[in-house]
Amino acid sequence: MEPVGYRPRQKKRTKRCVVLIVLLLIIVLGVALGLALSRRTETFKTTFMDRCKKFEGNDCEKIWAAFQQAYVGKDPCKVPMEAYDPLIKAAPFKPSCNRMMFWSKTKDVAHDFTDKRDCFVTLEDTLLGSVLDGLTWCGKEGSNETFTSDCPEWADCDDNTVRSFWSRVSAAFAEVACGDATAMLNGSIATPFSQYSIFGSIEVKRFNSANMRSLNVVLVTQENNVSNCSNASLKDLQKELDKGIKYNCKEVSEAQIQACSSNTEIPCHACW
Ligand SMILES: *[C@@H]1O[C@H](CO)[C@@H](O)[C@H](O)[C@H]1NC(C)=O
Ligand SMILES: *[C@@H]1O[C@H](CO)[C@@H](O)[C@H](O)[C@H]1NC(C)=O
Ligand SMILES: *[C@@H]1O[C@H](CO)[C@@H](O)[C@H](O)[C@H]1NC(C)=O
Ligand SMILES: *[C@@H]1O[C@H](CO)[C@@H](O)[C@H](O)[C@H]1NC(C)=O
Ligand SMILES: *[C@@H]1O[C@H](CO)[C@@H](O)[C@H](O)[C@H]1NC(C)=O
Repeated sequence: MEPVGYRPRQKKRTKRCVVLIVLLLIIVLGVALGLALSRRTETFKTTFMDRCKKFEGNDCEKIWAAFQQAYVGKDPCKVPMEAYDPLIKAAPFKPSCNRMMFWSKTKDVAHDFTDKRDCFVTLEDTLLGSVLDGLTWCGKEGSNETFTSDCPEWADCDDNTVRSFWSRVSAAFAEVACGDATAMLNGSIATPFSQYSIFGSIEVKRFNSANMRSLNVVLVTQENNVSNCSNASLKDLQKELDKGIKYNCKEVSEAQIQACSSNTEIPCHACW
């Protein structure tokens, strides 16, 4: 004879077992999630450090700390460009007179050129620009993590983590522009100079005639050119410039720039 209450006790035991397994699962999942979260920050930090260490003579841990304080624990839409001031202090921009190249809507051509020839320097060739180029990051209120997904897009809000970073470093890069500077603009679009671009809204406004002698626009043309140096938007650019900065504009075909990128025997000053 089975004792009464035996089955129910076993049922109770099974129930307890199920509860225990569920609890264990929750703990395991929690730990895994925690690890994944911290690994997310770790992966991002690893990229940051690896890229940073290519530039000698910098304290990359200190730069990372100054970078993080700008956005960690904050609403990713409420990070003003000033939040990165301590970062600029930790990794100041050094002027490279006569070699600074600005670009707008010509990122690939400009970088293909500066990657192959070292006569010009774009923002993305500097420490801060190259460390963060192509990356997405943001924080969250109540978290000390760095997230790399579900961050606001460029146009979602003005003061977003990534956009404010590029605004701030662009301002710092333009502030140290000196001698003869170059700007690669796009001749395949109707308005090669846009007042709403980073170049138009931030960089041009920071150029200072005390340090900068001239701005030389290289208007990159393709087979179906749309604009030329007479375009009215370029007249607006000229008006925006600090008085005393000379302005030049030259139409140069993309093919000619590419030829110069790949032939180091052509001296840089002869590229256009
Ligand atoms: C200019 O802009 C057009 C349209 O966005 C793009 O297809 C083209 O590659 C750009 N030209 C250069 C030289 O970057
Ligand atoms: C976040 O804070 C926890 C607890 O203070 C700490 O263990 C962890 O290392 C921190 N993570 C980061 C990315 O700072
Ligand atoms: C520039 O382009 C306009 C049309 O957009 C054309 O009328 C003008 O002749 C061009 N100027 C030069 C110098 O090529
Ligand atoms: C030249 O610039 C003006 C704006 O400043 C623009 O409206 C016009 O379409 C531009 N392009 C050409 C090809 O004329
Ligand atoms: C495009 O620009 C090149 C170089 O400035 C010029 O020689 C050519 O005539 C232009 N083509 C068109 C269709 O305007």
